[in-house]
Amino acid sequence: MSPEATSPRSVLVTGGNRGIGLAIAKAFLANGDKVAVTYRTPTDLPEGILGVQADVTDEASIDAAFKAVEEANGPVEVLVANAGITKDTLLLRMSEDDFTSVLDTNLTGAFRVVKRAARGMIRLRKGRVILISSVSGLYGAPGQINYSASKAGLVGLARSYSRELGSRGITANVVAPGFINTDMTAELPEETQKDYLSRVPAGRFAEAEEVANVVRWVASDEAAYITGAVIPVDGGLGMGH
Ligand SMILES: NC(=O)c1ccc[n+]([C@@H]2O[C@H](COP(=O)([O-])OP(=O)(O)OC[C@H]3O[C@@H](n4cnc5c(N)ncnc54)[C@H](OP(=O)(O)O)[C@@H]3O)[C@@H](O)[C@H]2O)c1
Repeated sequence: MSPEATSPRSVLVTGGNRGIGLAIAKAFLANGDKVAVTYRTPTDLPEGILGVQADVTDEASIDAAFKAVEEANGPVEVLVANAGITKDTLLLRMSEDDFTSVLDTNLTGAFRVVKRAARGMIRLRKGRVILISSVSGLYGAPGQINYSASKAGLVGLARSYSRELGSRGITANVVAPGFINTDMTAELPEETQKDYLSRVPAGRFAEAEEVANVVRWVASDEAAYITGAVIPVDGGLGMGH
């Protein structure tokens, strides 16, 4: 069986207007799927990708985005919860708001979209949920107590989800990227980037497409028996974690 899906599916990627999310959306589009992305900031999207405005911290906007996607492309069969933020700072300087706002976007945001998508997937009796976590979630990183906690939480979410809905033909997996060249990592100080690079066995950072290809595969027929897994795409940075 080829890694490509057998029929076009309705795919939704949150935060798909740039970075890793956009690369994931393009990978599904190239696969022949019907692809929608959420955006907060209006952006020019490649032809064939439907953009719907949504903020993952706002349940009503998520519901409106799902309705628009369902109307245009049918019930969401592949959901990629990718939207995420960082607010890096050391523990003693981290305010409660720095912590809760990152959790609200990265973890509760994923919960909101996964929950909204579940109705349609249960009715379809099939579905693929892919949560974009991070090597920081299991390996830890100084200055990222908020971010790491949110990304580790996604692992518990995917595993409990798998145990709850696994018998309905739905899988839920976590993809944990390492250092990927995007706006998010461009913000990091040069010293931090050098430090990461020195610890990556692959000796380089990755491009967003390298994450996208793995996400597309996890959503393919070939990966039907993989659920509750954490799949690193990190050049070996987090090995064993
Ligand atoms: N880059 C890396 O090295 C790396 C490594 C590990 C994990 N990750 C994870 O991969 C995912 C994508 O990262 P990236 O590097 O592509 O980041 P990015 O370039 O900063 O893009 C983040 C995306 O998330 C969206 N977003 C943020 N907050 C949102 C909200 N409240 N509601 C809806 N959308 C929201 C952004 O939308 P706007 O354009 O509207 O801001 C944007 O589309 C994130 O979950 C990140 O934690 C990245």
